[in-house]
Amino acid sequence: MLRISSVVTAVAVLAFAPATANAQIKERTLKLNFGNVLDHPVGKGIAKLSEIVAEKSGKKITIRAFPSAQLGGDIPTISAMQGGTIEMSIMNSGLLVGIDKRFAALDFPFMFANAEQSDFVVDGPVGTKLHAALNEKGLVGLGYWELGFRNVTNSKRPIAKLEDFQGLKLRVLQSPLFIETFNALGANAVPMAWPEVYPALEQKVVDGQENPFPTIRGAKLNEVQKFVSSSNHIYNAQSVLISKKIWDDLSAEEKKILQDAVKEATAFQRKTSREAMAGALEDLKKGGMTHNEISDAEMARIRDKVKPVIEKFAKDVGPELIAEMQAEIAKAPKK
Ligand code: MLT
Repeated sequence: MLRISSVVTAVAVLAFAPATANAQIKERTLKLNFGNVLDHPVGKGIAKLSEIVAEKSGKKITIRAFPSAQLGGDIPTISAMQGGTIEMSIMNSGLLVGIDKRFAALDFPFMFANAEQSDFVVDGPVGTKLHAALNEKGLVGLGYWELGFRNVTNSKRPIAKLEDFQGLKLRVLQSPLFIETFNALGANAVPMAWPEVYPALEQKVVDGQENPFPTIRGAKLNEVQKFVSSSNHIYNAQSVLISKKIWDDLSAEEKKILQDAVKEATAFQRKTSREAMAGALEDLKKGGMTHNEISDAEMARIRDKVKPVIEKFAKDVGPELIAEMQAEIAKAPKK
């Protein structure tokens, strides 16, 4: 009798186990707002992420992408995520400087010699520490993707030497580090939200802007810009973010699905982004832009000019984190 009742109990447990586990995953739609187009490497990464999340959640969790900042620019999106009205976003990690000044370090000009150095830093203790600092400010960082090395475009002249920046009205990210960097180079830096950039270039409110090639191509800036110069001045990592209000409402199982999916999609997104660079530049040239490289000697002058800006912002970041980043970069696998 005892044995039969044990069997009955065991059968009941087995019968209910999947249902209980399933109940840990609710039907949810997570709105993900981002600045680029769907065909951009970030957009492709999001498509991959959505696919993995759908598969792992048995199609219960849907990530609904809003490209081209349809729900607002990056700064209002940060507030909306803090309030829980937008669930997710992917944006330049350096924009999080308004939450924690140390994020500026990820945007230091000429900090990373190649993308892999940045991967090593953001995937290690420095990246973890920075994202952890977001938690008490209403955000959770799930991982780091790539935007890539930024290059200058403008409608006036090729940037071939330091003096070519002189007097250019250059739209920059809404971050003090970007403003001071380009002012130090002699440009008039104009901070502006990304969705306003195309019309501002078209109406000649500003002369130029700076972004990685796939972003310039995705926004069709070749229609309103003549010159593209390979300045490779700043490497941008992107933070994959979710609202803490939403995160706290997820079950342990749902959290694991998202964490695992972001991890899986990260390798794909970075590879896609890196493969897109050369093709994007070719498309910009075909689209009418004139491209130039900048000589090593001029790049050395440009680097020198921005050193005081880096030193100033390094004080905000703090010597410990800078030293830790430099030690990580030294340990990064050689390319
Ligand atoms: C910007 O310049 O605002 C961003 O780099 C655009 C983007 O997110 O791709």
